[in-house]
Amino acid sequence: MSLKEKIDLDRLPSHIAIIMDGNGRWAKQHGQLRVFGHRNGITAVREAAEAAAELGVKYLTLYAFSTENWNRPRVEVNALMQLLLQTINQEVTTLNKNNIRLHAIGDLESLPPRNRKHLQKVMDETANNSRMTLTLALSYSSRWEIVEVARKLADQIHSGQCKPEEVNQQCIEKLLSTHDMPDPELLIRTSGEMRISNFMLWQIAYAELYFTPTLWPDFRRDDLYKAILDFQCRERRFGKTSEQIQNVKKQE
Ligand code: IPE
Ligand code: IPE
Ligand code: MG
Repeated sequence: MSLKEKIDLDRLPSHIAIIMDGNGRWAKQHGQLRVFGHRNGITAVREAAEAAAELGVKYLTLYAFSTENWNRPRVEVNALMQLLLQTINQEVTTLNKNNIRLHAIGDLESLPPRNRKHLQKVMDETANNSRMTLTLALSYSSRWEIVEVARKLADQIHSGQCKPEEVNQQCIEKLLSTHDMPDPELLIRTSGEMRISNFMLWQIAYAELYFTPTLWPDFRRDDLYKAILDFQCRERRFGKTSEQIQNVKKQE
């Protein structure tokens, strides 16, 4: 039985998020410059997106460039922006063929104008695709996002749209850049690092975390299947006791 066949399709996470990490180390292992690792990470993006869509995962979010990544050497930042531009333009046919909608979250205003323009074009061209939403987190960080939410909330209160005592979790959720998707149930990080690096801090409150030593350019379909199988072995209790969870299962 293949790894794919072992997956229970009735218990798939509807939203998987991935911190794609390890491109630089992969390049170093191959005696190459860091950008070689980024370029080779594209195959992994394609594999993960196609595998998730084929299974029936509705949302896949990839952390591609963080707010903090702007602090990398200029040549690397430029190469990443160039690669992003090239990839989104190249992949539009594949996205449409696979019925995948492209979406982006983050401080998109801070991207080079050319990137923003082409990103918008590909998002428009794939807007009606319904099998899966592939979200790229670009110039994204959770603290940036939370500050944005705080500003919008302050505006709403200032203009009388909302009273301070009315602020609740739903108000915040509606203002997050992920307001139109469910929270990720499974968060994968490659490269063996066990940290979140400012990614979706609000949204991963109850996500199952999965860390793998595989470096991102080596990530293939089977790595995604392994993460999903691991997820399916976990008991998600949301603060309740194991007995409560088991009783609900018996009643179903
Ligand atoms: C992830 O790989 C890609 C981005 C953050 C853009 P890295 O470039 O962080 O690779 P390592 O962590 O240095 O190996
Ligand atoms: C996290 O990777 C950001 C992305 C994958 C885009 P980093 O490589 O930037 O994270 P740190 O700096 O090691 O925590
Ligand atoms: Mg890294």
